[in-house]
Amino acid sequence: MEKKKILLPDGSYLPKIGQGTWQMGEDDTAYSREIDGLRHGLEIGMNLIDTAEMYADGKAENIAGRAIEKFDRKDIYLLSKVYPQNANRHHIYSSLERTLKLLGTEYLDMYLLHWREDADLAEVAYCMEDLKDQGKIKRWGVSNFDVTDMEDLWKVPDGNQCCVNEVLYNLGARGIEYDLLQWQRERDVPFIAYGPVGQAGAMTTQDGVSKAALMTDKNVIEVAKKHDISVVQLLLSFVLRLEDMAAIPKAVGFDHIEENAAAAEVTLSEEDLEQLSRSFPSPTEKVTMEKY
Ligand SMILES: NC(=O)c1ccc[n+]([C@@H]2O[C@H](COP(=O)([O-])OP(=O)(O)OC[C@H]3O[C@@H](n4cnc5c(N)ncnc54)[C@H](OP(=O)(O)O)[C@@H]3O)[C@@H](O)[C@H]2O)c1
Repeated sequence: MEKKKILLPDGSYLPKIGQGTWQMGEDDTAYSREIDGLRHGLEIGMNLIDTAEMYADGKAENIAGRAIEKFDRKDIYLLSKVYPQNANRHHIYSSLERTLKLLGTEYLDMYLLHWREDADLAEVAYCMEDLKDQGKIKRWGVSNFDVTDMEDLWKVPDGNQCCVNEVLYNLGARGIEYDLLQWQRERDVPFIAYGPVGQAGAMTTQDGVSKAALMTDKNVIEVAKKHDISVVQLLLSFVLRLEDMAAIPKAVGFDHIEENAAAAEVTLSEEDLEQLSRSFPSPTEKVTMEKY
């Protein structure tokens, strides 16, 4: 397996590191900076862009569309997500058309169900496969699915055509290591980590848990110093250490973007991982899936 790519169940490759777009498009004065940031990331090889119809009600998709204009479409990996309430035959076709229009593209490389809620999984799989047949998406997956959700998906026709699950994963949110990681590995379904750097300490989950300690923890700081990298780079390299885990850090500052690209080159040792686990251990019992 190539270090910077992940093999998907359909035989294609997913880039290991990409760029998030959540919270882009929310402030009109940041519009140009956000486009420039994504472009810079694309120029230095972070060619997966993660967006969603939800983000700033399409404005993030519009920003991503502007960012990719000058690039060859086939060099870019575009992922967007559909709301659960739109993931059915009455709404998904118009949702996707809007997404494609905002992105200025004919197709998505990956289309995800953003979260489960009360989406009918058989209907989701049917629609996703239909969109694949129409050539509008290359492949599809889910997001925020825990083991029981994946089990339910696997029970519906074509549910097992799901290529990826995008979940919250970082050093301070290791719940998937207890069971979901193994479940998906047994079926060769890789992950995309959202919130991979814990929003540089600003993250608070839906349950109100702050991840601020990630930035100030003694062991995290020590391991980062040992590798002569920033704490955020250390957090990202922790996520990317798993060969079936892609990550989509969101950054606007060029310095942040360059740091993130460089973090993909860092290799942590077993000793480093043990030290980090002293502060942020892998779970020894089931943890309710963290989200935000
Ligand atoms: N599927 C889902 O339900 C779901 C949920 C949430 C997010 N997502 C996706 O995952 C992406 C990433 O998650 P996220 O944006 O919430 O969190 P994140 O990537 O963990 O953190 C983003 C924050 O970290 C800062 N940052 C990034 N790189 C940095 C660096 N090298 N040094 C210092 N600070 C740095 C950014 O600052 P600047 O922007 O100022 O550079 C930004 O404030 C989202 O953008 C979105 O595309 C998906």
